[in-house]
Amino acid sequence: MATQPSGSPPTTDIDLFADETLLDPYESYRTWRDAGPAVWSTRHEVWILSRFDDVKRALADNETYISGKGVGLYGPANEALEGTVIASDPPEHGALRRVLADRMSPRGIRALQPEVEAAANSLVDSIVAKGSFDAMPDLARKFPLMVMADLIGLPGDDHGSLLGWADAGFNTFGPANDRAVSSMPIVGEMFGYIASLDADPSKLREGSMGREIYEASERGELKFEQCGRLMAAYLMAGLDTTISSIANAVWLFGRNPEQWTIARSDPARIPHVYNEILRIESPVQTFRRTLTKDVQLGDALMREGDAVLLLYGSANRDERHWQDPDKFDVRRRSADHLALGFGIHNCAGQGVARLEAHSLLAALARKVERFEVGTPKRHLNNLIRNFDSLPVTLVPAAEMENA
Ligand code: HEM
Repeated sequence: MATQPSGSPPTTDIDLFADETLLDPYESYRTWRDAGPAVWSTRHEVWILSRFDDVKRALADNETYISGKGVGLYGPANEALEGTVIASDPPEHGALRRVLADRMSPRGIRALQPEVEAAANSLVDSIVAKGSFDAMPDLARKFPLMVMADLIGLPGDDHGSLLGWADAGFNTFGPANDRAVSSMPIVGEMFGYIASLDADPSKLREGSMGREIYEASERGELKFEQCGRLMAAYLMAGLDTTISSIANAVWLFGRNPEQWTIARSDPARIPHVYNEILRIESPVQTFRRTLTKDVQLGDALMREGDAVLLLYGSANRDERHWQDPDKFDVRRRSADHLALGFGIHNCAGQGVARLEAHSLLAALARKVERFEVGTPKRHLNNLIRNFDSLPVTLVPAAEMENA
């Protein structure tokens, strides 16, 4: 990473990954957007891109802004992820992406639909029956964990440790702070578990996504040693991200009951509603790229080899692109948000995330008139905006109609 910025760019010494910034990053984001298209972080020694157009342009230009030198700020984690789908460049990246392309395609996702919808209905029935519950363990964490463990075909029923592994994995994308450093041994446990599957892939359910990865390696489509890491990439990426988006949905609708009334009035609106949830509370706040050549952006001369942080969460609130960006408005057309990335590294599992969220929102729309949300407790992670607990009381639809 560069230690001295060239030119006379705006600078900031705010720690992007400090507790107080993670709790409420939006004021800092606005300051950086207003300061210029590229802001030099003296603390993290990276460039910060925070405006919608600049983040999108960088994501689209994967020859100048590469991922192969790491998408996080912590050296040991970048080394561990070298050559994985998220931290690789063409042509290796394309080969890894192709392994699960059919399964992640609209046709592949349609095949999952009946089972995921049935699971969403049954889970919503169970929380409606409870009435009051904590939306983190009882809904937001439970559903993606169930879907991802089943999709990958993991053996056994107790997949609780996956949640801790995914949380730790996302922490290691931050700088070398306590959260990242203390997470490395936990990520090590996950790789130990993956190694046990490498040793005997037949433990994975036949026909599952996990088995498909090892079968692709038998056909010579990827090296055997890449299998476990590809499986881990999908597993990790598919948990805390979707968990955050489901929790955010409940939290946003609890605070904006009129938006829930609009959202549930027309089931065809649900995909737009989910895009707006992803826009205003983007689960992944940032990933890093590395420059392959000098780039002048406003007053900033960014040099070849410099690291650049792309702030998805800020781009999605950029007033240069969105009208009244801090307003949660389910009637807004938000489909061009960057919460799922853009360009060749755009989210490979977004079909799964959308299927999960659309199924849950549709089931909730049928059964729930209103969410009454208590005081939440935020969960601090270097990359993902999440909650530890989110107390909710549901006002069921039938109860209101009968009242
Ligand atoms: C709401 C939920 C989700 C969000 C917000 C999200 C967000 C993202 C983002 C921002 C990226 C881009 C990374 C980059 O620019 O470098 C990404 C990539 C990725 N996501 Fe997701 N994701 C979600 C769900 C999922 C799910 C459910 C899966 C697995 C089934 C998944 C698998 C992946 C993979 C494998 C990549 C790497 C793609 C590549 O580098 O080509 N994601 N995701």
